Amino acid sequence: MNLRSLMAESLLPRLETRILLQHIMGFSQAQLISRDDTCVTAEQLKCFLDYQQRALLGEPIAYLLGYKEFYGRNFQVTPATLIPRPETELLVDKVLELAPSDARIIDLGTGSGCIAISCKLERSDLQVVAVDVSPDALHVATNNACQLSAAVEFISSNWLNSVSGKFAIIVSNPPYIEHDDQHLANLRYEPISALTDFGDGLEHIRIICAQSQKYLQNNGWLLIEHGYNQGLSVREIFNSNNFSSVETIRDYANLERFTLGCYLKN
Ligand SMILES: C[S@@+](CC[C@H](N)C(=O)[O-])C[C@H]1O[C@@H](n2cnc3c(N)ncnc32)[C@H](O)[C@@H]1O
Repeated sequence: MNLRSLMAESLLPRLETRILLQHIMGFSQAQLISRDDTCVTAEQLKCFLDYQQRALLGEPIAYLLGYKEFYGRNFQVTPATLIPRPETELLVDKVLELAPSDARIIDLGTGSGCIAISCKLERSDLQVVAVDVSPDALHVATNNACQLSAAVEFISSNWLNSVSGKFAIIVSNPPYIEHDDQHLANLRYEPISALTDFGDGLEHIRIICAQSQKYLQNNGWLLIEHGYNQGLSVREIFNSNNFSSVETIRDYANLERFTLGCYLKN
């Protein structure tokens, strides 16, 4: 069987079929099109059919491939890490915009390390620290930093509990999905503790906001990603923790996606 027939007979959407076949064949997108008369070996066909079966059962393509692109680079992902989302790139954009030269910044709940590593690779002047409570996630993040040659300091910590010193920026994409949110059922392959706080979705945000005051330099910024319907509640949490210039930024779909606030020492 050649690639053209395999693409025609695939039970997956065209884009997913293309991504999987590029991976299996080691082809670029252009090669997949220009060389679609290439015959697939029995082994390649078996590999595709196995991926197809798993994808049809709902397993994300990123877990099948073992990586996901974020901010123009491939990050290893495993079932211990959340799959980086495109919206989170906006959080990185904002950190890069706000970070003064040579600033010390920290990423809380780093997962694959995508935020911390992207910040460091875009701005080598930054001193970047990243924490996670999951040893398996920290292992993946450390591998990614090594693969991508990013000098990030990783710490095993429950939010800021095991961290010392002050930061110009604290950034986090914490687990924020409410325990009874219907969307959780569609995310069953990702680690549950990376998705939800098993409560109202705001518990980790309350903790991070409260802890951050002690760890932010004067005029430092806290940025937290949250659900599209949590903007108002998150702004209230920031305001009740004495943050100034509190603002929520919308994502590509015009949905409220992350909130930031400045810490001014009294
Ligand atoms: C939504 S994921 C974000 C992962 C990554 N930063 C990203 O944007 O793709 C949340 C991460 O927070 C971590 N986490 C959950 N509870 C934590 C805690 N108490 N302290 C530190 N990290 C925590 C999870 O292990 C997970 O990696």
